[in-house]
Amino acid sequence: MSAILPPGQRLWWKQPLDRVEVTWILIAFTWCMVMFFMMPYWHVYGKQNLSTETYRTTPEAFAKKAQAVIDQYTVRTETDEKIPVVHPPAGADVFLIARLWSWQPILELEVGQTYRLHLSAMDYQHGFSLQPENINIQVLPGYEHVVKITPNRAGTYAIICNEFCGIGHHKMVSKLYVK
Ligand code: CUA
Repeated sequence: MSAILPPGQRLWWKQPLDRVEVTWILIAFTWCMVMFFMMPYWHVYGKQNLSTETYRTTPEAFAKKAQAVIDQYTVRTETDEKIPVVHPPAGADVFLIARLWSWQPILELEVGQTYRLHLSAMDYQHGFSLQPENINIQVLPGYEHVVKITPNRAGTYAIICNEFCGIGHHKMVSKLYVK
């Protein structure tokens, strides 16, 4: 048999399996199963996979909710673009807006407190990457992702967009303060 000519024996699937072939099938199948069960295992025991809730929204509706929280809890602004720094009360719902090519606002959270972080995009797909925690969440327009977070270390974290979103993608960086 060759890959170009049709098989001489048309009912080839009725031929007995070669031992080498059956061995490879078993190895591949076993590995598939390992990979398959790693997914739920890693979800439960991995430290970087967060369970998220996802809701339908619109950019306008999300921006409105986010803006209300920003207006209420802005404590100062930073950089020339006057990005608001929001310090919400412990346990609050906090919002982060992704758009070409910025994150708004800058959040200032407290160590050991739990927050519900809402994420959505205004235009295209972006990626929320929190470093050095190495947390990754896709941020999509029309969807509101809600993640429960409890910062356990004080410091300044970096937020990086890790989905290519055009010419300013590399500039789509921000930070998150934990105090
Ligand atoms: Cu947003 Cu890349």
